Amino acid sequence: MLASSRTILGPALLIFSMAVLSFRQVESEPTQEKQALLDFLSGIRHSRRLNWTESSSACDWVGVICDSGRSSIITLRLPAAKLVGSIPPNTIGRLSQLRVLSLRSNRLSGQVPDDFSNLTLLRSLYLQHNALSGQFPPSVTQLTRLSRLDISWNSFSGLIPSAINNLNLLTGLFLENNNFSGSIPGINSDGLNAFNVSNNNLHGSIPASLTKFPESAFAGNLGLCGRPLSACSHKKSDSLSTAAIVGIAVGGALFLLLLLLLVLLLCCRRRQPGKPPNPPSGKGSGTRTIGTETVTSSSKDDITGSIEAAERNRLVFFNGGGYAFDLEDLLRASAEVLGKGSVGTSYKAVLEDGTTVVVKRLKEVAVNKKEFEGQMAVLGEIRHENLLPLRAYYYSKDEKLLVFDYVSAGSLSALLHGSRGSGRIPLDWDSRMKIATCAARGLAHLHHSGKAVHGNLKSSNVLVRPDRTACFSDFGLNPLSSGASPAPNRLTGYRAPEVAETRKVTPKSDVYGYGVLLLELLTGKPPNQAPSMGEEGATDLPRWVQSVVREEWTAEVFDAELVSHGNVEEEMVRVLQIAMECASVVPDQRPDMAEVVRMMDEIGRGEPEDGTRQSSDEPSRGSEGHTPPQEASKTPPRGATE
Ligand SMILES: *[C@@H]1O[C@H](CO)[C@@H](O)[C@H](O)[C@H]1NC(C)=O
Ligand SMILES: *[C@@H]1O[C@H](CO)[C@@H](O)[C@H](O)[C@H]1NC(C)=O
Ligand SMILES: *[C@@H]1O[C@H](CO)[C@@H](O)[C@H](O)[C@H]1NC(C)=O
Ligand SMILES: *[C@@H]1O[C@H](CO)[C@@H](O)[C@H](O)[C@H]1NC(C)=O
Repeated sequence: MLASSRTILGPALLIFSMAVLSFRQVESEPTQEKQALLDFLSGIRHSRRLNWTESSSACDWVGVICDSGRSSIITLRLPAAKLVGSIPPNTIGRLSQLRVLSLRSNRLSGQVPDDFSNLTLLRSLYLQHNALSGQFPPSVTQLTRLSRLDISWNSFSGLIPSAINNLNLLTGLFLENNNFSGSIPGINSDGLNAFNVSNNNLHGSIPASLTKFPESAFAGNLGLCGRPLSACSHKKSDSLSTAAIVGIAVGGALFLLLLLLLVLLLCCRRRQPGKPPNPPSGKGSGTRTIGTETVTSSSKDDITGSIEAAERNRLVFFNGGGYAFDLEDLLRASAEVLGKGSVGTSYKAVLEDGTTVVVKRLKEVAVNKKEFEGQMAVLGEIRHENLLPLRAYYYSKDEKLLVFDYVSAGSLSALLHGSRGSGRIPLDWDSRMKIATCAARGLAHLHHSGKAVHGNLKSSNVLVRPDRTACFSDFGLNPLSSGASPAPNRLTGYRAPEVAETRKVTPKSDVYGYGVLLLELLTGKPPNQAPSMGEEGATDLPRWVQSVVREEWTAEVFDAELVSHGNVEEEMVRVLQIAMECASVVPDQRPDMAEVVRMMDEIGRGEPEDGTRQSSDEPSRGSEGHTPPQEASKTPPRGATE
């Protein structure tokens, strides 16, 4: 009876919800702004990453963020999107509600269109690292709401207009590495906390309001003088003898020659093959938690050319994340340490626009750039709902960063072992089974499709979402520290016996780790704290379980929090068998992960249909692996903070 009413209701509901959905999509689309973006894109060469399709809402496009009502576009970020050519006029200027525009690190040339003056609400404009030219864009001096303006590393020339004082909310002004000439106008610097005009063609004395900025903000302008540079000498300029002029000319030529030599030297040094990268310097800058000064501020090496610098300061994104931000955004993000692990420190970074990601700062990377990029290419391809996707990476000599989705979740380790006994809700058996199944699927995918090894398997690397689905983090990073011994203490208990000798992680050593993980789920004991086995004091969870099971008090091994109600215990014993098989001392006796998934599924199918085990509106336990992998969502899942 119930069933029949469902079959009638089902299609009706479906049609209804489809109607609602399509209505919402039509309604929630800034149609005219979408057209402006399409016009922009059709007028410029761009990377294939920008697959802006007309059929989807512009609000869901890569790099686009709409307001909450989805009625207008407020952010457009296309950094390093391989945009080539001039900005098509009358396109971006039509996004009248835009607050943030980033087109940095592309190959834009020509002038900034006049219609930019219509972006009256713009707060941040990032156009640095392009090849834009012409005068200081007049349209920009009309954007009175601007707080940050970065047009550095372009080919702008001419005077810096005093109309820049229209922008009285400006906090950061970056004009370095252009060809601006003339003298610096008086600039109201009350709110200004970052300023740079270095490496231009400026001369004259530095206005008093700007003397608060450091020397490096003015360096590289041969004609500039006065505090913080050396004092101006006003007198002799017209009484220079020919000899002096010749002297200056020769001196200048010599200087240029020296500069050239320096550049060549730096180039050669950088090209040296096989030079092992230096260990991370660890000199974190004061203001930012992620990254070092070498990332943010360009170093001396930057003389070697803006293009190379742009390349170097680039986050390399993989397809599908839907993220559009750049290194600078990341460094400006507010960051919170999530944890310090054996491979590095993880931060939760919340960008200005609210995007939240996890940034992992790797330490002790022992491979060269090519090998690093090779492994990144492997990991960047891996997409599975039970594996935390790698979205981007950054590589420089001093700094290696990985960017992952932020998952609002707790680690399995915290769920199992955190604040035991103090009134918390214990993890029930169904949840544990679900987590174990997710973990098995993730590993199986990693081994069979991803062609990678986890190598760092432990319960603190299993992230459990509120719905008790789980995914692995920190996989596939071993090849980056090849040679260096895997941190011994961290993995005690999970590390397969043979790894201690061979120093090589393999799919089979992952299977061992998975077996230990199952035992941890069953016993509720962290593997490095298993009860001591008498004389040796060994704390090896598999051996301990084995000894207990041999003595035939199997029930003793199970977690006391798993109050066994009859039918569950049988499942627990079967999982115990799988766990022991996985944790065999002999690698060849361990099943492979595909087999493990099959065995776990078989247990799942033995579930009674009477609904005593699980309420029916929850997805049934065996099914989560059959739903298609979560589509890369535009923003990472976010939610209740832990
Ligand atoms: C700004 O927008 C108005 C109408 O919205 C338009 O008439 C004007 O031409 C635009 N300005 C520029 C410089 O394109
Ligand atoms: C910079 O501008 C000056 C004129 O102020 C011009 O002579 C010079 O060629 C320009 N340099 C470059 C690299 O464009
Ligand atoms: C200004 O930019 C140059 C790079 O062109 C950099 O070396 C210098 O540190 C910057 N100075 C400040 C104060 O940001
Ligand atoms: C387009 O982009 C989305 C999101 O980035 C991605 O999921 C999808 O696979 C892309 N499609 C193509 C044809 O590249």
